[in-house]
Amino acid sequence: MKILVTGGLGFIGSHTVVSLIEEGHSVVIVDNLSNSKKEVLYVLQELTNKEIPFYQIDVTDNPMLETLFSRYQFDGVIHFAGYKAVGQSVEQPLMYYYNNLLSTISLVNCCKNFGVKKIVFSSSATVYGNNKSPLVETMNLLPTTNPYGETKAMCERILKDLHASNNCFEIALLRYFNPIGAHTSGLIGEVSIGTPNNIMPYITQVGKGNKEFLNVFGNDYPTIDGTGVRDYIHVMDLAEGHVAALEGLTPGTHIYNLGTGSGTSVLQLIQTFETVNNIKIPYKITSRRSGDIATCYADATKARVELNWIAKRTLEEMCADAWRFEKSLQFY
Ligand code: WQD
Repeated sequence: MKILVTGGLGFIGSHTVVSLIEEGHSVVIVDNLSNSKKEVLYVLQELTNKEIPFYQIDVTDNPMLETLFSRYQFDGVIHFAGYKAVGQSVEQPLMYYYNNLLSTISLVNCCKNFGVKKIVFSSSATVYGNNKSPLVETMNLLPTTNPYGETKAMCERILKDLHASNNCFEIALLRYFNPIGAHTSGLIGEVSIGTPNNIMPYITQVGKGNKEFLNVFGNDYPTIDGTGVRDYIHVMDLAEGHVAALEGLTPGTHIYNLGTGSGTSVLQLIQTFETVNNIKIPYKITSRRSGDIATCYADATKARVELNWIAKRTLEEMCADAWRFEKSLQFY
């Protein structure tokens, strides 16, 4: 199929492009480069041995997007483009609501006007709010603690209503847990411009000596060792989950957790990273980060049963691949 990938030069988008092309699909990438580098395109073309059409377009620019849709007959879209920093969304809510909502509305409006029925949307486990893990797709969503999470819940609503208005649409809403790791080549991975928000890029920066130590945000949670528990999933498993969802699409709105189904604490993650990479990661216990919840992990049954997809890669592989990428970072 010919697939438009918005945000295709970003962390998850770039890995999904590799998986799509490996499965024989052809890809067009749009990205406004607000949180990615054009050099990733050249790496993707090297990794896949394919010319990949790229357009530096902001998905909120609907006229530009219409022009693109009139040039290509897309069979489907995978929509990654959006801001995703939880803390930044609290400081700059309007920027998040404008960008994340308008980009989605602009994109699906093009899909409607050009008869593109297959839509895969990058959602997040954040939409579950304070629901108790293991998190199941049928749960009622609870308010999240941040505008970022609210934009994801609102975009899910927009897509559900789109299908309700026209039942030809085939829509997958993919709720990610905590994607970490990198392509085994070490050529693409999670790049943080400035101080990383997420834990793994922070750990690799400590490993590289760019940061003195990791702040562990609280060790007084009701968890195995008091630190936060999360469902870390290898970004390549996540990428393959997108391909499985796309290829498995049928009319309707289908929600899937993309997680491993098991939780890992911060201290367990540090320990695993140190052991696998034979490196010391100094850390200090600090106060809790506002908005954090104690435990978050998936019930991964539905994707396994309906998509025949399961996260295969281990936490050790995630840590080894993340470290390999950090060590090979060239152009950032
Ligand atoms: C993981 C754990 C922290 C940093 C967020 C978004 C989610 C998704 C993934 C976009 C927590 C602890 C972290 C640090 C720490 N993003 N931590 N020191 O908050 O679970 O999820 O990123 O889709 O939507 O909410 O990820 O990596 O920030 O934190 O101790 O420097 O590591 O408290 O327990 P999070 P995270």
